[in-house]
Amino acid sequence: MAKGWVRVLGFAGSLRRGSYNRALVRAAAEVAPEDVRVEVFDLDGIPLYNMDVEQQGLPEAVVAFKRAIREADAVLIATPEHNWSFPGVLKNALDWAARPSGDNPFRGKPVAVVGATTGQWGTLRAQLHLRQVLAYLETHPLSRPEVLVTHAREKFDAEGRLADEGTRTRLRELLVALRDWTYQLARREAP
Ligand SMILES: Cc1cc2nc3c(=O)[nH]c(=O)nc-3n(C[C@H](O)[C@H](O)[C@H](O)COP(=O)(O)O)c2cc1C
Repeated sequence: MAKGWVRVLGFAGSLRRGSYNRALVRAAAEVAPEDVRVEVFDLDGIPLYNMDVEQQGLPEAVVAFKRAIREADAVLIATPEHNWSFPGVLKNALDWAARPSGDNPFRGKPVAVVGATTGQWGTLRAQLHLRQVLAYLETHPLSRPEVLVTHAREKFDAEGRLADEGTRTRLRELLVALRDWTYQLARREAP
């Protein structure tokens, strides 16, 4: 871990240009305390998982994704909710990141989960499913505070900026908690 600040890799489980979840990751970079840096990764270039492709060598975008996870002190995932779960785009990226077997850059990483939806439950069900996968990936998910952005159309402006002050405050609180969680876990590591 770099001295004095925590490096967080943020990515969203949506490829949509106007994605509220992408906007949420950008907002996290804006509201982060000064000792937390959020670097944004785009899942755009990651192809659909195929073991035939894996056996010929990991695609460049997957290599870059894995490197970015490995270099980060902590991870922030913004997930949409699709059919009461998290989207295939995100599952696909997580599946690639954990390959080949035994080379999992998520292992031991502190991870915070947030999500934005146009509906009224704020990605609650998506986040629960995602936490199940994060457990398998041997991450250390942060439990609180929860950031569940409901009615996203009312909370982001036309430029895709998170305009809702309450959500900005909560997002900042989550990043403070993720920073503290990251330091706490780092202290526990065996020498
Ligand atoms: C295939 C599909 C399924 C969806 N299912 C849900 C759902 O189960 N719950 C929910 O709250 N919103 C659901 N939505 C609405 C999404 O939450 C909404 O489109 C959201 O803006 C997507 O995130 P994004 O803006 O980051 O792309 C669904 C949207 C799509 C396209």
